[in-house]
Amino acid sequence: MNRRFFSQLLALGAGSLGLWQARARADDELAQAPAGGAPSVGGPPNPRRLEPVNVADFQELAKAALPPATYDYITSGSTDEVTLRDNVAAFQRLRLLPPLLTGVAEVDTATTVLKQPIALPILLAPVAGQSLYHPQGALASARAAASAKTIMGVSSSVGHSVEEVAAASSGPKWFQLYMPKDRAVARRLVERAERSGFKAIVLTVDLGERKDADKRNRFTLPEPALRKHLSDIGFNLSERMTYEQLLAFNDQAWDLTLSWNAFDWLRSITKLPLLVKGVLRADDAKKAVAIGLDGIVVSNHGGRRLDGVPASIDQLPQIVAAVNGKAEVLLDSGIRRGTDVLKALALGAKAVLIGRPYAWALAADGEAGVSKILELLREELVSAMLASGCPNVASIDRSLVIS
Ligand SMILES: Cc1cc2nc3c(=O)[nH]c(=O)nc-3n(C[C@H](O)[C@H](O)[C@H](O)COP(=O)(O)O)c2cc1C
Repeated sequence: MNRRFFSQLLALGAGSLGLWQARARADDELAQAPAGGAPSVGGPPNPRRLEPVNVADFQELAKAALPPATYDYITSGSTDEVTLRDNVAAFQRLRLLPPLLTGVAEVDTATTVLKQPIALPILLAPVAGQSLYHPQGALASARAAASAKTIMGVSSSVGHSVEEVAAASSGPKWFQLYMPKDRAVARRLVERAERSGFKAIVLTVDLGERKDADKRNRFTLPEPALRKHLSDIGFNLSERMTYEQLLAFNDQAWDLTLSWNAFDWLRSITKLPLLVKGVLRADDAKKAVAIGLDGIVVSNHGGRRLDGVPASIDQLPQIVAAVNGKAEVLLDSGIRRGTDVLKALALGAKAVLIGRPYAWALAADGEAGVSKILELLREELVSAMLASGCPNVASIDRSLVIS
């Protein structure tokens, strides 16, 4: 295992000053952009002075606003990015086959995840380092999730403490844990999340991050952000520790050699529902069910871990079959359109999570950006449900997708 695994995870270079200088530059460029602007990725060209109308537009706006290294950190995947590309391509390979003349005139996107009622089946995935994308960082995302009446998965590396994110909004939140080696620290952290009102614990367990872009950019978390992150987790740091010492501390602080009994331990310290994130194999999903986990997130971390693994959506049907209704199955990696949400739900996901789409939107326009991307995806989903004769989420079924 690469010693720098976790530093890479957090390798969020340029400081906020650089970010705002870049944003000011981008504003100038946008003001001067010729009609037609830069082509957006994956959609028809949108003059950049107009309102963003899809995820790809927000990607372009984030690219213009962020220092290149920070944009690369969000956007890139591991090594050859085979999985990163396949996540999107796999959704595009699936075909929808809607029935005609269903008479459906209105749709309701509300659903329930782990007994939590939410207004749309789209959650915010745990995303690290949000303070580097926008000064309000996770606080902005938490407010946008609450306004949209959905759940925010809060990364343990998000840039704010669990208490700070909890105070930002009263919306439902799950706490995503990377396991500290020091179980006393881990225990206190989980207890703090529970006390702060988080509704579930998500343990992320997939490994193998190796992002060439971040290596090339020599991306490292700036000292103040690293110090805040480690103290937010609850590590006892001396103020005299140098940056080098903090980096070395961070390199050895995390338990990357977990086994399934990590969940027994979690179960012994919290009453909150437990989810495992990073599942791609049906046998792992069966193990998760056998040990009584409440939820499974089918995910390849958006192509940011071991490259060459399959797209999450391609693994979903066999995992849903293996779980057989005994736990809730969620999916992330590659959701870029409302039709992707429809496809995932048709193939058995209870809900989906988005990562990059809202990280780009946060960088582009803070809380308003995250609200907007959730609204755009909701509108796209509504349109797809109407066209498919689905008045509500429960009526989205397997027959809609040809694979
Ligand atoms: C910038 C960034 C940081 C991330 N940080 C975390 C993290 O701290 N914990 C985690 O479990 N997943 C993390 N992820 C993965 C997301 O939770 C999610 O699995 C992935 O982004 C979904 O793919 P998508 O970006 O194609 O939507 C991160 C993703 C991005 C883009």
